[in-house]
Amino acid sequence: MEYRDRSPCGHLTLSDTGKEVTLAGWVDALRDHGGVLFIHLRDRSGIVQVVFTPESTPQTVCDRAGLLKSEFCIRLAGRVAKRVEGAENPGIATGEIEVVAKDLAILSRADTLPFQISDKSMVAGVAVKREEAVAEDLRLQYRYLDLRRPKMQDHLIKRHRIVKAVRDYLDEQGFIEIETPMLTKSTPEGARDYLVPSRHYPRSFYALPQSPQLFKQLLMVGGMERYSQIVRCFRDEDLRPNRQPEFTQLDLEASFIDEGFIYALLEELTARIFQVGEIELPRPYPRMTWTDAMNSTGSDKPDLRFDMTFKDATDIFAETNYSIFRHILSRGGCIKGINVKGQSEKLSKNVLQNEYAKEIVPGFGAKGMTWMKVTDGGLESNIVQFFSDHERNEILKRFGATNGDVILMIADPSWSLVCSALGQLRLHVAQRLDLIPADVFYPLWVTDFPLFEATDNGVTSSHHPFTMPDRADFDPENRDELLSLRSRAYDLVVNGEELGGGSIRINDRDIQNRIFKALGLSENEIEAKFGFFLKALEYGAPPHGGIALGIDRVVAMILGTSSIREVIAFPKNRSAFCPLTEAPSPVAMEQLAELGLLELGGSPSLPGSKKQQTLIDSLSWVSRIRMDAEERPGIAAAIDDAKAYADLINSRCVDDEPMFSVVTAANRTRQGTESRVSPFAEKGEILKNAPSTKGGFFKVASILE
Ligand code: AMO
Repeated sequence: MEYRDRSPCGHLTLSDTGKEVTLAGWVDALRDHGGVLFIHLRDRSGIVQVVFTPESTPQTVCDRAGLLKSEFCIRLAGRVAKRVEGAENPGIATGEIEVVAKDLAILSRADTLPFQISDKSMVAGVAVKREEAVAEDLRLQYRYLDLRRPKMQDHLIKRHRIVKAVRDYLDEQGFIEIETPMLTKSTPEGARDYLVPSRHYPRSFYALPQSPQLFKQLLMVGGMERYSQIVRCFRDEDLRPNRQPEFTQLDLEASFIDEGFIYALLEELTARIFQVGEIELPRPYPRMTWTDAMNSTGSDKPDLRFDMTFKDATDIFAETNYSIFRHILSRGGCIKGINVKGQSEKLSKNVLQNEYAKEIVPGFGAKGMTWMKVTDGGLESNIVQFFSDHERNEILKRFGATNGDVILMIADPSWSLVCSALGQLRLHVAQRLDLIPADVFYPLWVTDFPLFEATDNGVTSSHHPFTMPDRADFDPENRDELLSLRSRAYDLVVNGEELGGGSIRINDRDIQNRIFKALGLSENEIEAKFGFFLKALEYGAPPHGGIALGIDRVVAMILGTSSIREVIAFPKNRSAFCPLTEAPSPVAMEQLAELGLLELGGSPSLPGSKKQQTLIDSLSWVSRIRMDAEERPGIAAAIDDAKAYADLINSRCVDDEPMFSVVTAANRTRQGTESRVSPFAEKGEILKNAPSTKGGFFKVASILE
């Protein structure tokens, strides 16, 4: 049995009948049939049935096979045979054949599994007995077992195909894949940075990139013209189902281009990669300005697989006697609504009034909701009696309403609140009434975003500060003017999910500087944070632009998985924790000291020189051993005992010679640990304050050894 002769289990077919084959993989399932043992052998290519029978398999091999259990890793040799009629298993691709075993080697045994891996029945037509759904954290804790499941393997193989299709296409288009640094300076993308402390520069930090934004722009200044990268990005932001603290982008940038180049490139690229999942995206992708998207769906990532887009009814009620609307309009407000076509029977008055108007819509931030059913060609609700005939007729016309429709309206002095609440209501109703068609893909470009968003006392970038504004003659101190600027940014949205975003960039130092000023940065801050970048803009920076696609989101959408965690080999869980490695985890005080993290913000003194308030803290500090709260009472008692013992000895001895250890000095708390000399000690620094030293080591108080 040689590995090089190995055949993939899942590729064997009837045409291999009679062939001698060598197979290797894992025992997916077993079935003992009165002395005849059947197993499903699984490798990455699929599953094949192997039979150990006393007539055809040597007795020693049958005996060895009797030891097999699920997920043992084995290698075997045998002959491919056509299954007897009636014993075929259409549930597996190799279901017409089986391998009659001649030899078997157990390569590695497996313990009892924390959850079942096998999902293919050994008997045709009999469903495999599934355990209860396995908790995701358990799957992540044993991800190496979870990854053995054919479904997970399929996800990762398809992810590979998608990424390869991206690389092939961009290569055809003249893009060069270039790596950018992971240990770098902060690149603002609206999240917090993950920081990495520097040992060589105490109290200084690298930031892991939120994106390669600045570097890809510098590559354009560097004349690379077309750059792309499949790159890991890191963002410490609020957790959401489609977010991971580290995720993968397809990042690209090109010089001497405009928006049209990006649209054409990305449409061809995404159309190709969706084909990996046998999905045809309709082209060209429609475009919608941000204002139209908000006005018609209340979202900057509209889901247009279904209609129910907003109609504005503000003008209809300009002269209304209905006091709530009159009051809202007098404060400059607006009224918008949706028509839930033909769903009157499913939305009872009780549901509309008591669930939507009183509970659900207030949860979306609006004070209330107005509903109307269309019956007998007219409107019916608890408030239509306050509307004039003209208002009622206009509503019917504006919403194109006919019998069986339900009109839902939200009014508020704030336009953005109306849009956002009605947008959430639109999605809620569509999901509840199952109005979103399955297997439909609706790509869309959203364009002309506001360049800035208002903050309490200033503005912040809607995207990132390197996006070109629609005009350059703005005053960075005029907040109203800043809020009126549009950006040359574009988002690629599919089915209401933002898959990517990018923009045409600022390539002029003066404009870039004024954007930083508009964001409230002082000259000093601009220089400290972005001086290197602004300098680059002084050396003939070409016009350029680009985009980044979230690869995890794209793959999850193509494969139709419930979360992006299903298409990432080792993701963090919903709480940004890794149940497998238990990262993040605390680190030893020594490590913090080595990185200069114990003295952050304080005096620049070296570890060991700090005055501690209590004796225990002092001992903990000088001996570099962290003491947890629950350990402190025990250590306090030990100190008292030691002190009492020292007093006793002092009272008996005339001189104060220290005691000697009669056993060889060794690390008794962490046995088996190799002793290691800290680089601080080598430089003599760590020992500067040591009461006593030996061989480059700090002699610690024996109580803590
Ligand atoms: P942006 O911040 O829009 O743009 O990111 C681009 C795309 O990356 C994906 N994404 C994420 N995916 C998973 N988890 C996350 N935490 C996460 N955050 C973002 C999204 C998003 O559309 N430098 C710019 C691009 C450019 O201007 O060229 C940028 O990073 O799919």
